[in-house]
Amino acid sequence: MSEFLKDLKRTHDCGALRATDDGQRVVLFGWVSNRRDHGGCVFIDLRDRGGITQVVFEPSFGDAAFALAGELRSEFCVGLTGVVRGRGGTNKNPNLATGDIEVHCDKLTIFSKSDTPPFEIADDIGTNENIRLKYRALDLRRPSLQKNFILRSKIYQTARNTLSRHGFLEIETPFMVKYTPGGARNFLVPSRLNPGSFYALAESPQIFKQLFMVSGFDRYFQIVRCFRDEDLRQDRQPEFTQIDLEMSFVTEVDVQSVIEDLTSSLWKDVLGVTIPTPFARMPYHEAMSKYGSDKPDLRFDLPLTDVTEIVRGADGGGIGMFKTALEAKRPATDPAVVKVWRLPAEQATKLSRTEVDKLEEWVKGFGAKGLARARIADGGAWSQTPLKTVADDMRQEINRACQAVDGDLLFFQFGSRKLANTVLGALRLQLADKMGLIPKNEWKFCWITEFPLFEGAEDGHLVAAHHPFTSPLEEDLPRLETDPASVRARAYDLCLNGNEIAGGSIRIHRRDVQERVFRALGLTDEDAQQKFGFLLEAFRYGPPPHGGIAAGLDRLAMLMCGAESLRDVIAFPKTQKGTDLCTDAPGGVSNKQLEELHIALRT
Ligand code: AMO
Repeated sequence: MSEFLKDLKRTHDCGALRATDDGQRVVLFGWVSNRRDHGGCVFIDLRDRGGITQVVFEPSFGDAAFALAGELRSEFCVGLTGVVRGRGGTNKNPNLATGDIEVHCDKLTIFSKSDTPPFEIADDIGTNENIRLKYRALDLRRPSLQKNFILRSKIYQTARNTLSRHGFLEIETPFMVKYTPGGARNFLVPSRLNPGSFYALAESPQIFKQLFMVSGFDRYFQIVRCFRDEDLRQDRQPEFTQIDLEMSFVTEVDVQSVIEDLTSSLWKDVLGVTIPTPFARMPYHEAMSKYGSDKPDLRFDLPLTDVTEIVRGADGGGIGMFKTALEAKRPATDPAVVKVWRLPAEQATKLSRTEVDKLEEWVKGFGAKGLARARIADGGAWSQTPLKTVADDMRQEINRACQAVDGDLLFFQFGSRKLANTVLGALRLQLADKMGLIPKNEWKFCWITEFPLFEGAEDGHLVAAHHPFTSPLEEDLPRLETDPASVRARAYDLCLNGNEIAGGSIRIHRRDVQERVFRALGLTDEDAQQKFGFLLEAFRYGPPPHGGIAAGLDRLAMLMCGAESLRDVIAFPKTQKGTDLCTDAPGGVSNKQLEELHIALRT
């Protein structure tokens, strides 16, 4: 008597059979996703990662199988053998890939029974996410999640193939590294063998991959886990995966071309979509000015307008708040501006006054003090506005600059450039989404270039916008000491539909430049030695010119799957609070373990 697993091997997965297989004897394994007892016959939907096949049990196909089918319940794990039969006319199921056939079962085995699952294993069932995460193994049985992980798996294959084709070597770097201050907040790991000492979990392989360039590996890549103890959002996880690479003897375009080839290969292999390369390029300054974001969603336009110079020229144009904002003393990295975002009449007329008032509350969540607005009325007049005292000339100039016409709605922000961009950039996205202005199924890639080298920290000091080894633009070097806020970096991000999917830079390989950058950051030689001594030491021995980039694999997978959250493309993700509901991490440890680690908890 033939036995399942030993003699009866699986012949097909549950998504494979078609009308052309009519008459074939098959062996299928999977889970019962649905059972219907019609008296004289039993139907089940058998599910595995390939799909779903309808299986029929009747005494005439096999007595024992029919009897056992009576015991089947949802999520029982079974093996069966039978014959494929075409379904006639109305019995076909056009919603299933296997809908033209069914399997008439003559032998069934139950590998294991299932308790009633905490939720139905099906898509679009609206189960609370925390419950799904707690029973993640079951959640992952759902077809939509299985599809995401099948897609994600293809990303790894294509990434490896493409980068190997470009001559990259796959080399691993340590996760447990020395803690260096600055950058993202690190997770710390106590060292049992070295009392009082800690490893940090690597936030990225940055320094190691630069060491690889000193070693002469020339082209390195790694699909690598990175750890950052950050505040979490839909597009951020504390452990996430990068496709990380570094190259010697290159310029920006060389690195970008590799990523363009990688991206277009991914879209071709995984989605079957051809995307044109090279991608568009936009300087950071333009992205911020037009879209208020360094990762603009370019699937629709509706830009912001900077009217600072118009307002300054008109000495505030009769609006005290504008004048005061522009006269206030502000840091060079975040000067005062007046900016406007225009919502065209076609959409603006659909917004009620209450809805607009609600937006004012919403922007306060971003730190805005308010949201001054004006509706364009007859002859360009501003109505429904607190800016009633506006001088006619300035009003007309602003209308012209924003190309405002009758019925349009103008939203204003003034003061901090950073805040104005955040608020109006977010408003642009929010209303475009609400009004259905963002086309689906469109892929708008864009390189953002010429980032500032430095950012102003809260205490007024300069900090590296990327990391301190990012090279300044050659032509800006003379201003490194005199006007550091204006120095641009040889850094580039790739953004897609409003998401940052990769970021990198050409690095500094010249000691004199590195020393000047450290000085601009207020780092003494001693500080630099203490923080990055091992890299600086290696750089004494002929570092090649080099640069690199890292792409966020989870974000790529999320966008390619059309998922809303990283949690839908990470098998065991963390919640907003950094917990894993499936394993209950993080958890407490015993006093004995703490003692071994030379750690005492404060009560
Ligand atoms: P960066 O910090 O820009 O660069 O990271 C590269 C890309 O990784 C993704 N990413 C994240 N994805 C999910 N969760 C997070 N918390 C998270 N943080 C970042 C983003 C981002 O574009 N060492 C440099 C790269 C280099 O210069 O070569 C680095 O790590 O998609």
